[in-house]
Amino acid sequence: MRLPFDSPDQLADGMWLLPRFVETHKLSETLHDITSASPPRQMRTPWGKTMSAYITNAGAVGWVSDHNGYRYSPHDPATGKPWPSIPHQFSKIAAKAAAQTGFDNFTPDVCLINRYCVGSQMRAHKDKDERDETQPIVSLSLGLPATFFFRLEKNGPSQKVQLHDGDIVVFGGPMRRCYHGIKPIAPGNHQVWGSTRWNLTFRKAL
Ligand code: SIN
Ligand code: FE2
Repeated sequence: MRLPFDSPDQLADGMWLLPRFVETHKLSETLHDITSASPPRQMRTPWGKTMSAYITNAGAVGWVSDHNGYRYSPHDPATGKPWPSIPHQFSKIAAKAAAQTGFDNFTPDVCLINRYCVGSQMRAHKDKDERDETQPIVSLSLGLPATFFFRLEKNGPSQKVQLHDGDIVVFGGPMRRCYHGIKPIAPGNHQVWGSTRWNLTFRKAL
């Protein structure tokens, strides 16, 4: 059995794993409220490809992608309305995780929500659309496990780590602009989240 969260596990300079940081079943109603107001959808890359994860957001702005490029938008293009706010329950978790790794007073204005089905993946990319890169990325995994990979050099070797339900990854400092992604999700059934993986990344974009 895996132990409850004790202390962060430093994977590299600027990359931490906080195993089992969150009891995710406590988040399901709140996540359902967000995804009912702004349902996750498959966005297009600027090159016309359909992304395999289904994406939505909570926050003052939300990350969007279409033929005009990647950007943060104050409105959900699908509903024409502002994105749902980040629930206090969520931002509290993100701030607590950031503080555990030395980033005090982290106040995210975006919670980017990715929903993965079995076989969905996220290809290698950098998170570089945020203004203040002194602020970390705080990433919470729910549901099915996934292999997260990261590397500093575009064509360098990746480090891989298995992420489980409730785990948080924090990356910042020298890793803030690392390449990272998710390998295709293996079949499985999670007792709370079924055959789905959710990932919530908290960012300071504005
Ligand atoms: C992302 O990089 O936006 C998603 C990472 C993840 O799903 O863990
Ligand atoms: Fe990312």
